[in-house]
Amino acid sequence: MPVRERIILSLDTHEPEYALQLVDRFSEDIQIFKVGLELFTAGGPEIIRRITEKGKKVFLDLKLHDIPNTVSRTAKVVTRLGVFMLNMHTSGGLDMMRQTRDAVVETCLKENLPRPKLIGVTVLTSLSSEALKNELCIPHSIRTHVKHLSRLAFNAGLDGVVASGQEIESIKNSCGKDFLVVVPGIRLSWNPPDDQKRTVTPREAFRAGADYIVLGRAIMREEDPLKALRLVLLDLMAT
Ligand code: C5P
Repeated sequence: MPVRERIILSLDTHEPEYALQLVDRFSEDIQIFKVGLELFTAGGPEIIRRITEKGKKVFLDLKLHDIPNTVSRTAKVVTRLGVFMLNMHTSGGLDMMRQTRDAVVETCLKENLPRPKLIGVTVLTSLSSEALKNELCIPHSIRTHVKHLSRLAFNAGLDGVVASGQEIESIKNSCGKDFLVVVPGIRLSWNPPDDQKRTVTPREAFRAGADYIVLGRAIMREEDPLKALRLVLLDLMAT
C-alpha cells in the first residue's frame, strides 16, 4: 500500500466545521482521518457521517475501556457508523476484546456491513517507563509490557495494536508481520515532544515496520500544515 494511504491525520479539535475544513484541505493527500474523544464529544455520529460522505475513511479513536458487555455493545453501534478503524484498551482484558470482536463480526455478517479494523491500545505513547513502574506498578519494561498486551490482543482476534514506534519490531516478532501496528506520538526532528514520551519520526516509524502512522501536532502546529505534510511525504517517498 502506498505510504500516503498509511498516514492518518488526527482531527484534534472541538469544532466540527473546522474539522471538515481540514478534511477538505488535506483531501488530496490524506485518505484516513482520526476522530478522537474531543471531536466526537462535540460532533457526535454526524461528524463521522459527514467525513465518510466526502469519500474519506474514519478511525474512531475512542479507546473503549469498560466491562465486556458495555464495550461489545458500544462497538456494535460504532460498526454501524461505518468507520474504517476503531480501538479499545487491551488492558480491558481478553474477554472484553474477544466479546467485542465477536459482536462486531456478527453485526457485520447479519447486517451485511464492512468489518472495521479492530485495534487494541497498548501502553499510551505519553507514558514513560518511570510512570509505568512508579505510577501504574507494572514492574516490566515498556517493551515487554507492550509485547505482552499485543499478544493478548492477537489472541483475542484483533487486527492490530496502537503502540509507539519503539516497540514495532518486538510486536511483529511476536504476533507476525500481518498484525497491524498503528503508531501515534510522531514528531518531526525539530518538533517538541509535548506530552508524548516515546516519539519517533515518520521515517523511523515506517522503517521500523509501522502499518499506519498518526500525524497530529507534528504538522498541525507548523505555519503551513499542508506544506509540512507534503515535505513529510516527499521525504518518505525518497526513502
Ligand atoms: O498531536 P499528537 O501527535 O501528539 O497526537 C497524537 C494523537 O494520537 C492524539 O489524538 C492522541 O489522542 C492519539 N493517540 C496517542 N497515543 C495513543 C493513541 C492515540 O497519542 N496511544
